[in-house]
Amino acid sequence: MPTLQSLDRTAQSVDEIYQSLVARMGDYTPAFELRVKAELAHEINQLKVARNAVILGHNYMEAALFYTIPDHVGDSLDLSRKAAAADRDIIVFCGVRFMAETAKILNPTRTVLLPSLEAGCSLAASITADDVRALKARFPGVPVVTYVNTYADVKAESDICCTSGNAAAVVESLGTDTIIFLPDEYLARNVARETGKHIIFPTRLPNGQLHADTEIQYDMVGWHGRCEVHEQFTVADIASVRAQFPDVVILAHPECSPEVVEASDFSGSTNAMIRYVEQTRAPRYLLLTECSMGENVAAANPDKEMLRLCSVRCPYMGQITLEMTRDALRYTQYVIDVPEEIRVRAYRAVERMLRIG
Ligand code: 13P
Ligand code: SF4
Repeated sequence: MPTLQSLDRTAQSVDEIYQSLVARMGDYTPAFELRVKAELAHEINQLKVARNAVILGHNYMEAALFYTIPDHVGDSLDLSRKAAAADRDIIVFCGVRFMAETAKILNPTRTVLLPSLEAGCSLAASITADDVRALKARFPGVPVVTYVNTYADVKAESDICCTSGNAAAVVESLGTDTIIFLPDEYLARNVARETGKHIIFPTRLPNGQLHADTEIQYDMVGWHGRCEVHEQFTVADIASVRAQFPDVVILAHPECSPEVVEASDFSGSTNAMIRYVEQTRAPRYLLLTECSMGENVAAANPDKEMLRLCSVRCPYMGQITLEMTRDALRYTQYVIDVPEEIRVRAYRAVERMLRIG
């Protein structure tokens, strides 16, 4: 699967794009639909050259987009690096808003476009900069690790960011007795388990103050953010699928609950899951993550059996379509800006993460 390298699609004709889609999706998608997608993709690739743009596509993009227009596809960490290194005038981010903001934070002289203003994220919406300031006041001097699935003003209040691909490494790099880890409750619990830390979760009292039970021993302080997609998976789902397909290998994203991660065979970022399927040979696989990615992995690995999910779609990622991406390039919309005072502080946290790798 072309995860890490740059893909030059600008020279492809409509027919070549169409044939590549037929090869990947022709078994289950009517030809007339793939023809329409190929025409749109061709138009976007021409606009991309005319506008001197680069397109970054997250692994959750629908297959017809994922396989036709991005110059780079990948997970959040990978795409942050690609955004930092981008040298075209425009970066079109086929992902969600926090990802486009991260691109702007890292590469402020480029115009960053997000094709839909509805492309949010339940994790990013779960915490504000005021919440982080309140936590820092409650736990003075404790370093703050923030998942990249947050908005720029939250990153600006943080000491360092992390992604699903490097969260444990970032926590361990700090070498402190205690850390604040925000905002994903499940990722935090999974990291705590991996690093042997004990985690507590402050609650908000009716008077607005944060209460934390510091009587008990703790080395991590978390927050109650959840990914509305990954929180849907349960241990009962895993038991049911294992009863139906006893030889299935189950991969879970670390935004799933610790119980689900523990009941799975592997857990990792979206790129790590892709690599796992590529590098192993199991009778069949099931990815407990956003369902478009299962389609993309299945299309790239026709010799492997993938169980498909059809309803666990991220509504925010789903906002980004070929039509919206074409309009983004046609009308220079929607421009993502980050106030410079916030950007400079957020940059420190993101750049510190990128240095860890
Ligand atoms: P990855 O960084 O693993 O691609 O995850 C991003 C995301 O939003 C998962 O829901
Ligand atoms: Fe946010 Fe979850 Fe969607 Fe990822 S899958 S963008 S974490 S809501």
